Amino acid sequence: MSTASLRKDHELIEKVIKAMDSTVQLLVDGKQIPDSILLPVIDFSKNFTDVCHHSKEENSLFPALEQAGMPRNMGPIAMMLMDHERSREIAKYMEDSAQEYLTSGNSENLINYMKQYVEHITEHLWKENNRLFMMAEARLQYVSQKVDKELNEIEISKLQETGKTREHYEKLAENLSKDVSSQGN
Ligand SMILES: [Fe+2]
Ligand SMILES: [Fe+2]
Repeated sequence: MSTASLRKDHELIEKVIKAMDSTVQLLVDGKQIPDSILLPVIDFSKNFTDVCHHSKEENSLFPALEQAGMPRNMGPIAMMLMDHERSREIAKYMEDSAQEYLTSGNSENLINYMKQYVEHITEHLWKENNRLFMMAEARLQYVSQKVDKELNEIEISKLQETGKTREHYEKLAENLSKDVSSQGN
């Protein structure tokens, strides 16, 4: 099914979002968060979630849905494209505020933007998992092999652009979860 690879990405993104949510709580409680946690969070948000995952949706799933008769300039696809744009914006603010925190110790902006990012992505994933992907599964059954192949090719080429692999990001998510929970102890 053409959404399987995207749902798998969502699970990985959710793992990182969960670690980010705990990080926000730690910052609110006044705990120090090292760059060994913040830098991977930024790397993952930019390169895996945006460059890799959003490209898979924008360059393969959405065009396939358009071909199946869904308009691009209104309705669910337009909404998802706006969500992606917004996530890029918040990720940029989050990156700047992480740099600010690491140099000055001021956590106010970082807390604000990381919280916004967690909320935004959580809502976005929900809409895709429970709405858009359901529509896609119903409409794309005859082209699912073609879409699967495209998704796989885009994933490989986008990750190559970032110089990383899927294994790298799976390991990153795993380590992040462990590191964040050990910060709380
Ligand atoms: Fe998306
Ligand atoms: Fe997605």
